[in-house]
Amino acid sequence: MKKLMAANWKMFKTWDEACATARELIEFVADNLPEDREVLVFPPFTAVKGVAEIFKAAEGFSAGGQDYYIKEEGAFTGEISPAMLRDAGAVYGLTGHSERRHVLGEQDAFVGEKTSFGLACGLKVVLCIGETIDERRGNKVEEVLERQIRIGLKDVSAEVAPEDLSVAYEPVWAIGTGEVAGPEEIAEAHAFVRKILISIFGDKANEMRLLYGGSVKPDNCAEIIALDNVDGVLVGGASLQGESFSKIVLAR
Ligand code: G3H
Repeated sequence: MKKLMAANWKMFKTWDEACATARELIEFVADNLPEDREVLVFPPFTAVKGVAEIFKAAEGFSAGGQDYYIKEEGAFTGEISPAMLRDAGAVYGLTGHSERRHVLGEQDAFVGEKTSFGLACGLKVVLCIGETIDERRGNKVEEVLERQIRIGLKDVSAEVAPEDLSVAYEPVWAIGTGEVAGPEEIAEAHAFVRKILISIFGDKANEMRLLYGGSVKPDNCAEIIALDNVDGVLVGGASLQGESFSKIVLAR
């Protein structure tokens, strides 16, 4: 199973800036991308096509959409569909990101609709889950993760290909704060996520990738990526510069 090294550029970068960083990544990484690594970038919508075009030249690189709506088309001002993302060259879609849940108010059920719809429309999907600091302090980590997984995957077909569905564990308190979860906290959460996925999908859940996100940096990535049940990372701030994200992609 290849480790999925993913960058989420959030609401940063113009078309030119995104394309320049995509080219830098190829320059720094493409010739020495290890067999067991895959690079994924979620640019803002306006730059998905530019980044996807640049990545066509490099094996093991792909682009994704940070969000999408749950309809094929229609009068839904401001929204875009999975088909539109695919038309722009996106291979992946992201659902349930903490900022969509906590800033934009997305609820578990809506995240679940997006996840199953994206998969049904041919996107590979990364479903994000994670507890707030209050939920951790209240010993509710497992309860929250299990709820977010079960509702988030409620309508996903049992036939889903394991390589098409990944889950990113991103503790809300570690996102953009510089406060990375400790190795034990990450390993415990990932083992729990794996257990729940196995209870839903059976053995093939062992082939689904579990990503960690939350203040991943070039100097802590090697330790995180070596943990049991960590099959990749989802990086925000430290993915914005080509050089910094390249170091993360290659970290050992
Ligand atoms: O999607 C990425 C996560 O929100 C992590 O962001 O690396 O800036 O903490 P961060």
